[in-house]
Amino acid sequence: MSSITIQKSETSKIDQVDFDNLPFGKVFSDHMLVCDYKNGAWESPRIVPYGPISLDPSAKVFHYGQTIFEGMKAYKDENNSISLFRPLDNHKRFNISASRMSMPEIPEAHFIDGLKSLLKLDEKWIPTASGSAMYIRPFMFASGQGFHASPADEYTFIIALAPSGAYFSGEVKVKIEESYSRSANGGVGYAKTGGNYAGQFYPTQLAKKEGYQQVIWTDDHEHEYIEEAGAMNIFVVIGDTLLTGPTSDRILDGITRKSVIKIAEDLGIKVEVRKISVTEVVAAAKDHTLKEMFGAGTAAVISPISGFGFRGTDYKLPELENSFGSQFKKIITDIQYNRSEDKFGWRVKI
Ligand code: PLP
Ligand code: COI
Repeated sequence: MSSITIQKSETSKIDQVDFDNLPFGKVFSDHMLVCDYKNGAWESPRIVPYGPISLDPSAKVFHYGQTIFEGMKAYKDENNSISLFRPLDNHKRFNISASRMSMPEIPEAHFIDGLKSLLKLDEKWIPTASGSAMYIRPFMFASGQGFHASPADEYTFIIALAPSGAYFSGEVKVKIEESYSRSANGGVGYAKTGGNYAGQFYPTQLAKKEGYQQVIWTDDHEHEYIEEAGAMNIFVVIGDTLLTGPTSDRILDGITRKSVIKIAEDLGIKVEVRKISVTEVVAAAKDHTLKEMFGAGTAAVISPISGFGFRGTDYKLPELENSFGSQFKKIITDIQYNRSEDKFGWRVKI
């Protein structure tokens, strides 16, 4: 890759930030990485001061939603050494999303080396308070112009950094959704593209009015199998078995999800990756064999679900000491924050 140019910000906003009380994804570091795709090729990435960008009103991202993103985190240990967690998997998934949305793939060097340079420059912004991390948002959108409903000829790739605290602040109660669908067979559910999230906002707002924080999506065909939550893959523990649905073209292939499966297998926990029916979950809640439900994702880490609603009835989950979810969270975060051996080879030091 040709070298990355760096234009440093003349001033820093870092003194205005309360690093002990960080919200999720609302505070941004001093710099961002920007890279343009023009004339069929990626130009050299440049690091510039973080700030607004200018786009033509006809840019196709505004009209046809050609936009994708990733979610990653950087972690600082007590010796100030910085690590990423399985970053190559994010790069790979970014390009899977790009292909599905008819956008150009981005080379590994632009994505990974660009990210490392940016993190080194804004290293002081990586938070160290418990539960906080540097949330990384690589994204790409169609900056090419025109109202013709066809793929753009120009794209912009940006990486922004947001020192962040926890994604959820309180309990997570979910509603099992039977009317609306997040994705469909043959659709774009497995891609991290904006419309997948925009389409969830309205049904999630309705669920919030009913007292839930999240929706659990079910299959679009019969609404019989639980699939995933807004920004997390879903796990269920029935008896002593850990269950999660198989990935498909409707579900995001989560990196936290596959890490949980690997850790569970390593711990000797019985794991089943198969369709999980709503009927089975409700029956297990009724006969108290339903032990846990939790969401898994980069932003949310492992988020225990305190209960779920289905057809107007609420089912509460037991509060467990040493739940599977809490064990997975400890193992994953110990690897991420460099507090334990990295037995699976997931940590990438920068
Ligand atoms: N499902 C959806 C819809 C998501 O947006 C995310 C977040 O990235 C996940 C699952 C979890 O994926 P990962 O663990 O790779 O962050
Ligand atoms: C992540 O976990 O990184 C995500 O992308 C979720 C996001 C929608 C907040």
